[in-house]
Amino acid sequence: MILILLGAPGVGKGTQSQNIIKKYSIVQISTGDILRNEVKNETELGLTAKQYMEKGELVPDDIIIKMIEKRISQPDCANGFLLDGFPRTIEQAKSFDKMIKQKGLDLDKVIYIDVADDEIIDRLTLRRVCPTCGAIYHLKNKPPKQDMICDICGSKLIQRSDDTKETVENRLKVFKEHTKPLIEYYEKQGKLNSVSGLGTVDEVFSRILTALSSI
Ligand code: AP5
Ligand code: ZN
Repeated sequence: MILILLGAPGVGKGTQSQNIIKKYSIVQISTGDILRNEVKNETELGLTAKQYMEKGELVPDDIIIKMIEKRISQPDCANGFLLDGFPRTIEQAKSFDKMIKQKGLDLDKVIYIDVADDEIIDRLTLRRVCPTCGAIYHLKNKPPKQDMICDICGSKLIQRSDDTKETVENRLKVFKEHTKPLIEYYEKQGKLNSVSGLGTVDEVFSRILTALSSI
C-alpha cells in the first residue's frame, strides 16, 4: 500500500500517520522528521536544510527528491509506506510518479486533510513534541500527563523552532503557493480523497479509514 497524506502545516498529518501505520502495518516516511534528524546531527544536508526550515521555506526539490528515492528503496518499505509531508511541489510529485513507475509500483490514494487557518495557528503554536520518540502533544487538546514530560518515554518536551506565529504564517503562505496545486494534480489522477481535519483525533481517523476502505 502506498499512501500520501497531504495538508497544510498543522492539520494533523503526523498525528494521523501514527494511527494509519499501526492499522495497516506500513512505514511512515516524514520528510520533516528526516530533515530534523539531519539538522540535529549537523550533517551537510542538515546544515543546508536548516536555513530553509527556520524561515518556513521549502528545502530545494533536488535535495528532497534524492532523499525520498533513497528512503523508499530501503527494505522496510517493501510492505508499503505512507508519505507525510511529501510531495510538496508539482516537481516533487512528478518525480515521485516516475520513481514508483520505474519500480513497477502504483500510488493507492492521497488523503487531503482540510483545516481552516486560524485553527492551524492555534494547533501549531501550542504544539509540543518529544525529541526522543517523536510523540506529538498539544498544550490544550492533548496535554502530557506530567507537565512537559513525554508520557511514552519520559523525555522533556520541546517546542519546534518553526512553530512561532510568524514562521507558521509563512509556512501557510508557502503551502498555498506551492503545495495546494497538488490537490488538482491528484484529483486529475482520480486518487484524491478530501477529509475534514476538524473534530477529535479519533473522529478524523475514522473519516480517513472510510476513505481508505475502498483500496
Ligand atoms: P514538516 O515537519 O513536514 O511540517 P508541516 O507539514 O508543516 O507539518 P507539521 O509537522 O507542522 O504538522 P502536522 O500536519 O504533522 O500536524 P501534527 O500532527 O503535528 O516540515 C517542516 C519543514 O521541513 C518545512 O517547513 C520545510 O522547510 C521542510 N520540508 C519538509 N518536507 C519537505 C518537502 N517535501 N519539500 C521541501 N521542504 C520540506 O498536529 C499539529 C498539532 O495539532 C499537534 O499539537 C497535535 O496534537 C494537534 N492536533 C492534531 N490533530 C488534532 C485534532 N483533530 N484536534 C485538535 N488538535 C489536533
Ligand atoms: Zn517520548
